Amino acid sequence: MEKLTMLIQKIERKHIIAAIGIVIAVSLVMYLIGVLGPTEPKLVLVGAIPDNEYDPAEWGKVYPLEYESWQKTKEPRQTGKSFYKKGWDTDKVVYDKLSEYPFMALLFKGWGFGIAYNEPRGHWYMRIDQDEIDSSRVKAGGVCLNCKSPYMDALVKQYGNSFFSMPWADAIARIPVKHKNLGASCIDCHDNKTMSLKLNKETFKRALAKLGKDEFSRQEMRMLVCAQCHVTYNIPKNEAMQSIGLEHPYDGSRWGNISIENIIKLIKKNAHWSEWKQEVTGFKVGFLRHPEFEFFTRQSVHFNAGLACADCHMPYKRVGSFKISDHNLMSPLKDDLFACLKCHPQSNERLVKQIKEIQDRTLSLLLKAGYHEAVVAKLFEKIHVQFNNALVSDPLYAAAKDYYLEALYRLIFMGAENSIGFHNPEEAGRILGDSIGFSTKAEGYLRQLLAKKNVNVGNSINLELAKYLNNRGKHKLMFQKQQEFNDPFGTVEKTVPRASLGL
Ligand code: HEC
Ligand code: HEC
Ligand code: HEC
Ligand code: HEC
Repeated sequence: MEKLTMLIQKIERKHIIAAIGIVIAVSLVMYLIGVLGPTEPKLVLVGAIPDNEYDPAEWGKVYPLEYESWQKTKEPRQTGKSFYKKGWDTDKVVYDKLSEYPFMALLFKGWGFGIAYNEPRGHWYMRIDQDEIDSSRVKAGGVCLNCKSPYMDALVKQYGNSFFSMPWADAIARIPVKHKNLGASCIDCHDNKTMSLKLNKETFKRALAKLGKDEFSRQEMRMLVCAQCHVTYNIPKNEAMQSIGLEHPYDGSRWGNISIENIIKLIKKNAHWSEWKQEVTGFKVGFLRHPEFEFFTRQSVHFNAGLACADCHMPYKRVGSFKISDHNLMSPLKDDLFACLKCHPQSNERLVKQIKEIQDRTLSLLLKAGYHEAVVAKLFEKIHVQFNNALVSDPLYAAAKDYYLEALYRLIFMGAENSIGFHNPEEAGRILGDSIGFSTKAEGYLRQLLAKKNVNVGNSINLELAKYLNNRGKHKLMFQKQQEFNDPFGTVEKTVPRASLGL
């Protein structure tokens, strides 16, 4: 006690002034660091995360700001900002892709995608949405968890390849209860020790090896963590149509050049990738999913300029005196193009207009490709109904079928890509142009075949879309006219008139 009193007596006024001075100087430096820099977030390791820690809340104890922004993917987005990707905005409407693109209901009739197919929403909901959507969509079983649960690889390790075909309810029951609804999490993208970016999907790592590349720069990793899920894949089936794995169609492709041509070649070659039967034509066919990675990296302007997904979807943002990568991933339009303005100092309005121009052109082509293909599907249906299988061996029929499939796979690819052309506008035009070319060829061949049999189907084929769009599945989903996208240039009408849609 005596010692303490002596010590206090020893503290003179000059010491106090010096201490205050130091505090002010340090605060000033901290403030300047906050305002002037750093240009990138700096990692401050204030704790360690144990191996195999799946719980984002635990990671959040060390990195609270990123955790907080990650949690925001739960919130609805600004309404009225995006033209064609109205996901789950403050209007709280779940947008139905089959109502937006009615031809899809006809073409996808025969399995889950023809029943319920919604626009994507925030990452928070990826697992939850699997429970909310029509159960036909998760019929493939455990394999559906590949892009939805961080536990997928661990579960495949534990239960072996049979996990892929495990009935849906059983597969879900294998996820620890606490994390049953957990979607993309810290462990999917980060190394727990260094926080550097890391992949958490064996199937995707194997696919990358096929591209002839096994080392990736930090910038490339800023794309590959997304590509773990934002890619196309096939679910190979056994004789009993059970899922036996998950494969990416990359054989023979190269980094920066995974072409739609090569993807189609592989789907056609691998008969066990035929996952469903198209009801209208009776054809067993493959499928393509959200090919953001393949489409963006096929020599787009931004890919060639060295950009990664995170540059536009996870911009650096200031939180207090820190800068972090925004983990609240969303459409850049719904974020008022914050990410773009860093490199494009032109006005926000001009950039919005540029995006809309690109998307309008893509949409117009997509609608044309879609309705042309639907007409061809209906011609096949007529031929099957009227002639049974009698014409199947005709060379005209075989050629028409081949063209039809070429058109179909291109169409599914572009309909599933989530940027309506923006990620690679030139490639969008090329792929959809080819799709229209192939479906036009197929139609010509089928008409020739029918003419040979003295059947005149007339100029306009009724697509009977109401039949495919209404009373879908368990929830009896109906066509939502107000959600339908119309051709911004009105040219679809010239080849497939509105009156022939049957809507
Ligand atoms: C584990 C798989 C997975 C990973 C990894 C992943 N995503 Fe997603 N992403 C999804 C799924 C699934 C959805 C749709 C969720 C839904 O609709 O329920 C989605 C939706 C989105 C959306 C729409 C969000 C909205 O608000 O509508 C954007 C944008 C997006 N992802 C970008 C990215 C980017 C950029 C990365 C990489 C930094 C990434 N994703 C990594 C699976 C993933
Ligand atoms: C140059 C900027 C840019 C890059 C790079 C980029 N995107 Fe996008 N992305 C956009 C824009 C713009 C849209 C269109 C948003 C809209 O229409 O609302 C979009 C749309 C999306 C969507 C749909 C969003 C929604 O709300 O439904 C997803 C998912 C997505 N991108 C994922 C990716 C992935 C994965 C990558 C990397 C392979 C990537 N993006 C690279 C700008 C970019
Ligand atoms: C879909 C992938 C993805 C998920 C999920 C994810 N991150 Fe990140 N994270 C990134 C990317 C991309 C970066 C930028 C890394 C870079 O530029 O090197 C990043 C950067 C970071 C950084 C470095 C500082 C910064 O802000 O740039 C921290 C810390 C971080 N994330 C924490 C987390 C935490 C905590 C979680 C879980 C709550 C999480 N991340 C979930 C992709 C992800
Ligand atoms: C990291 C920097 C960077 C970011 C972020 C970025 N861009 Fe770009 N953008 C570029 C570069 C570089 C080019 C190519 C310019 C050139 O080669 O003349 C480009 C080109 C473009 C073009 C012209 C495309 C073409 O086909 O010629 C448009 C439109 C565009 N960007 C829009 C956007 C939008 C919208 C966003 C945000 C969603 C965005 N950019 C984000 C760097 C960026």
